[in-house]
Formats: sequence, structure tokens, C-alpha cells
Amino acid sequence: MATVDIRDVRKAFGSTKILHGVSVGIEDGQFVVLVGPSGCGKSTLLRMLAGLENITGGEISIGGRVVNNVAPKDRDIAMVFQNYALYPHMTVFQNMAFSMKLAGAPKEVMEREVQKAAKILGLEQLLLRFPRQLSGGQRQRVAMGRAIVRNPQVFLFDEPLSNLDAKLRVQMRSEIRELHQRLKVTTVYVTHDQIEAMTMADLIVVMNHGRIEQAGAPLELYDRPANVFVAGFIGSPAMNMLEGRIEGGAFHGPGGGAWPLPPGAPASGEVIYGIRPEHFRLDPDGLKATVHVVEPTGSETQVVMHIGEAHVLGAFRERVSARAGDILPVSPDPALVHLFDRQSGQRI
Ligand SMILES: Nc1ncnc2c1ncn2[C@@H]1O[C@H](COP(=O)(O)OP(=O)(O)OP(=O)(O)O)[C@@H](O)[C@H]1O
Ligand SMILES: [Mg+2]
Repeated sequence: MATVDIRDVRKAFGSTKILHGVSVGIEDGQFVVLVGPSGCGKSTLLRMLAGLENITGGEISIGGRVVNNVAPKDRDIAMVFQNYALYPHMTVFQNMAFSMKLAGAPKEVMEREVQKAAKILGLEQLLLRFPRQLSGGQRQRVAMGRAIVRNPQVFLFDEPLSNLDAKLRVQMRSEIRELHQRLKVTTVYVTHDQIEAMTMADLIVVMNHGRIEQAGAPLELYDRPANVFVAGFIGSPAMNMLEGRIEGGAFHGPGGGAWPLPPGAPASGEVIYGIRPEHFRLDPDGLKATVHVVEPTGSETQVVMHIGEAHVLGAFRERVSARAGDILPVSPDPALVHLFDRQSGQRI
């Protein structure tokens, strides 16, 4: 186990700058999720941690030791890739034992360590099978088993669940979490799925265009997004964001409507008004929304509606009997409204 310190790390491929100075301090045993849209530099950063890409600028330390010039095999990390990269011609046992075999470990040690990992992952019955004889989730577990037997200081995961179907993803997600609780190995986990990030992380690092937009605990990011990007990225369905101005004690959105302000709002100014779908409630004295589409999911009802010219989504716990064209009075919970500066996009 180890701390990981990423300090002002930069990466350029030729003249193309990919990472523009990224700093994250990771505590011993922490589960950190790097999240962000495709192409923002998540895998690049992970590969730099692993030593598979060189570092253009800045410093990476693992366990207090600067590893900028340390070879991958000497970093004491284990990486699980998106495609698992199992050897097709080797059995599960051989796949899991491979790194120990390379290191010249005695047979009994290989046997013992593979059995131990197989037990943790529920693979004991599958050790003699070949990867083609396994389901996606089982292959995923073999890939993790291969990482576990190395007993590394740090686990690195790059979108390990993206090949799995929705149900298996949920299951593997909690298995990985459980594994982490048991082994308590410092973990850096890359995904572009914000739900995976929310449910798994101790610390989420939201990246965009090679920069960190915000780092914090999952609910911190949900409750107090630092800017419009994080507000739109964290939370599903996404936060509604309306451009308009504050005047006379209310927010005036596109095409009218006087929306309630949160406590401590400025008295005037151009802002972006953010309200999550789940923070609307039905309210006879509320804003008059014209219902556009009603989508019952069973556990809640999502309603696409127009308020003035604003196109917003509401999610209600109760059943909503309204139909397209009806007027539905709704209110945003003022305490849960987010305001952002219209120019900079930063939280006010
Ligand atoms: N070897 C390379 N040479 C040039 N550009 C590269 C190279 N590797 C990656 N890039 C570029 O760096 C940027 C970041 O890539 P990276 O793979 O880190 O993104 P990512 O955040 O992991 O995205 P995804 O979610 O799609 O996996 C992309 O614009 C990509 O095209
Ligand atoms: Mg990637």
C-alpha cells in the first residue's frame, strides 16, 4: 500500500499538449476515480502512473518515491485494462500465475497465491478453463486475479467494466468495491461513467481537456459543483441549466417565469441557474410548466416540460397523471438551486 502524489503533471505528444498540469494527492488505501469525457486524458494519466508513457513535466511519486524514471516493472503497481488482455492459450491458472512465473517464483508459491486470489474472486472452479470458456464477468475477475496475485502497492484500472452488460456492471462494481475494502490497496480507477464514479469513489477527480475541473468526495461534487462543467457531468439525469438574469429578488429565465433564488444569492446579475430534475416538486402555487413528454420509470416519473421558453426535465417520486399539453405547476426547491457566473461558468 502506498500514497500516490501527482504534482503538476504535464504530457505532450510532439507539439500536442494533452495534460496541462494535473495535481492530485492520493492517500494510502484511497479509492480514487478519474472521470471525464472521452479524450480528456484519463488513460494517458493512468499510463503515466504505470510508467507506460513518459512524463513531459511535473512529478509522480508512489510511496514517497519519485518514479518519473522508474521502469513499469519496478513501480510495484498492477494494471487492469479495459479489454482484460488475457492470454487466450493459457488457462485461468496460468494467466493468473504468469507474472510470478516470469519472476521465477517456486511452484508452491504460485499455487498458494493463485488459490488465495481465486478464493477471493470466486474462481476456484474455473482455474483449468481457457478464457474463451468464460463469461465476460468471469474474464474480468481473472484479469483482477492476475493483478491481485502480484500483491501490488497500487491498483490501476482503466474502464474495466465497459465491455459488460448493465446488470453485470452493477454486480462487478460492488465486487470491486468489496475487494478494495478487504485488501485496502490504493486504487486509481478510470471511467467515463459518472454513476460508476459516484458509487465507487472515496475521491472523484473530474477531468476535462487535460485539466482537473474539481476533485472531491462524490456527494461534495453533487451538492456543490464548482462550475458548470462539473454540475452538468455529475448527477443523472443531468442538472437543468438556464441562462438568464437576477432581478427583483428572482431569476428570470428564457421567455419569462420568476424562479426562486437560493439563500445568499446576489441581488442582480447575469447567471446560469442550475436545478437538478429531482429537486422539483409538484406545487399548486408553482411555476406553470407545459408538459411535453411524460416518462414513468416505475420508481419515479420523469417529465419533460417547458417553463417560459426553458426546456427542463423534472423527476418526481410520485406518479404524475398529466399528459402532453397539460399545465403542471412545479417549484424548484430554492435551497437546492445552484447559481453560476454566466461569463466564467464558476459557482457563485
Ligand atoms: N500516442 C498518442 N499520440 C498522440 N495523441 C495521443 C496519443 N495517445 C493519446 N493521444 C491523445 O490524447 C488525448 C487523451 O487521450 P486519452 O486516451 O488519455 O483519453 P481518455 O480520457 O482516456 O478517453 P476515453 O474515455 O475515450 O478512453 C486524446 O485526444 C488522444 O487522441
Ligand atoms: Mg481511456
